[in-house]
Parts: sequence; structure tokens; C-alpha cells
Amino acid sequence: MEEGNQSVVSEFMFQGLCTSKELQIFLFLPFSTICLMTFVDNLFVVVVIITDHHLHSPMYFLLANLSFVDFCLSSVTTPKLTTDLLQDSKTISFGSCMMQILSVHFFGAVEIVTLVMMGYDRYVAICKPLHYSSIMGRQKCIGLVWVSWIIGFLHSIIQVVIILCSPLCGPKVLDSFFCDIPLVAKLACVDTDTFAIVINVNSGIFFILLMISYTYILLTVFLHSKHGASKALSTCTSHIIVVVLFYGPCIFIYLWAINITWVDKFLSMFYIIITPVLNPATYTLRNKEIKNAIKRLVHGLSGRSLASQLA
Ligand SMILES: *[C@@H]1O[C@H](CO)[C@@H](O)[C@H](O)[C@H]1NC(C)=O
Repeated sequence: MEEGNQSVVSEFMFQGLCTSKELQIFLFLPFSTICLMTFVDNLFVVVVIITDHHLHSPMYFLLANLSFVDFCLSSVTTPKLTTDLLQDSKTISFGSCMMQILSVHFFGAVEIVTLVMMGYDRYVAICKPLHYSSIMGRQKCIGLVWVSWIIGFLHSIIQVVIILCSPLCGPKVLDSFFCDIPLVAKLACVDTDTFAIVINVNSGIFFILLMISYTYILLTVFLHSKHGASKALSTCTSHIIVVVLFYGPCIFIYLWAINITWVDKFLSMFYIIITPVLNPATYTLRNKEIKNAIKRLVHGLSGRSLASQLA
């Protein structure tokens, strides 16, 4: 009986980044470049860190994990968004939409927990330098990585289950360029408010966690030692840039749930497209050891190809 009343939503339509067709065609090139860059630079960071034994320490392992997660996160949304720019009707099936929500929230949560752990790692290195190797052992590091994947899994499963448990009435048009959960939630037939609150809190909690832990770490580091402050700042600048600039905006989307679409679109562009491409750059270009490792890798490769030419 009940089911008869609801039109079953089997696919969604994205309205895309903007309405102008010309602008979308114009944006295709920059977006595909960003897409390609995100894949290349994140995989590059992972390869450099895994192949260079100088970089086999918790800090770099966590960084490699971050890059890997960024790679996964952007492969879920950016390619579709980019090809959609050239499409007149941008549709996505119900299943793919759920997969997108699941993966964006899974990788997004893993990424944030990884960032918190990277902050913790720097905190131990600066405040407890003598105990660093005993606190951040190999086992601990692997444990932290597992914890981040488990938290990501629980978080994303909860989001998707909430969506699946509520009938969606439509209209099936999403004014966005990917399946963003607050927008899909608005299509529910029943009691969207409670629904929206649960979803937003489930996401917002991560950004709050991130902000609180970074504020705490920074304050402790500053108070810990006088000359430690400048040292801490120099090691943590990239972390702070990433956290404030790229994740600050997310709080607005999820906690205050602003309903101005272009603001929403602009802010979600940040964490869906800009953060994954800039993360490796902010962390690696400021880091001397990684630069050295890249030089060694390039030398090694050119040395090897020279040797094979001579042989
Ligand atoms: C992630 O971190 C773990 C634990 O340190 C490490 O063994 C693994 O190689 C890292 N994964 C990637 C893709 O770098």
C-alpha cells in the first residue's frame, strides 16, 4: 500500500557546476588537468615514500597513506564530474549515487582521521622527542592506520544506511555535481529535519574533531617550550594550512547547513577537487627529505636506464 504512494527514484540528475554550456566546455580542460595531476602527484608521493628506505618512518608512512586516500577520494568523483561537463544530461543511477556517497564519506573520514594522527605524530615528535621511537613504533603506526579505516567504514555505512532506510520521493534533480548526502537527504518523503540533523552531526563531528585536536596540539606545543614554538610552526605549517584552509569550509556545509547552493557548490569543490590535488604539494614541496628522495629516485632511474643502454 505504502509503496504505491511513492515514486521510486531510480536515477538522479545533476545540475552540474553551472548553467552555461560554453563555460562548462571551457572548464573541461582545467578540470581534466586537475584530475590527472591529482592521480599523478598522489601516486608519485606513495611511490617515493615506499621505495626510499630513508623515508621509512611513521611520519612518512602516514603521509603516504594520506596521499593514497586522496587518490581514492578523487577517483570517485573527479572523473565523472569532468566528463559530465561535456554531457547535456548528467545522470547517475541510484546505485552509483549510493556508491558515491559511501566512498566519499569513507575516504573523507579516513583522510580526516589520518590528518589527526599526523598531527599526533608531530606532537609526540616535538613534545616527547626522547620517547618518540618507543611511542610511535611500527605496530602502533599500523594500528593507527587500521583505526582510521575502521572509523571511515563505520561512518560511511551509517550515512548510507540512513539514506537507504528512508523512502525518497523526488524530484530527482540534485543541484550539485556529485551525490552529496545533504542534497539527497532533502528528497526524502518523511521528516527530513531529524534526518538532516543526524547526517550532518555524523559528518560535522569529524571536522570538529580535527579542529579541536589541531588547536590542542598547537597550544601544547607552544606552551611546551619557548624555542619550540618556532620549530613547531615550521614543521606544522603545512598541516595547519591544509586543515584551516581546506577543512574549515566543511564545517559550514555540514554544521550550519547553509542553503545557498552556489556557496555549497563552491565549498564542496574545495574538499572534493582542490584538497586532493594540493595535499601532496603542500606536504612534499616544503619537505627537504622528500625532495632529496625525489632526486635519489630520479638519479636511480636515469642511472638504471643508462646502465641498461650500456649493457
Ligand atoms: C600506510 O601506513 C602503514 C603503516 O605504517 C604502512 O605499512 C603502509 O605502507 C602505508 N600505506 C601506504 C599506501 O603508503
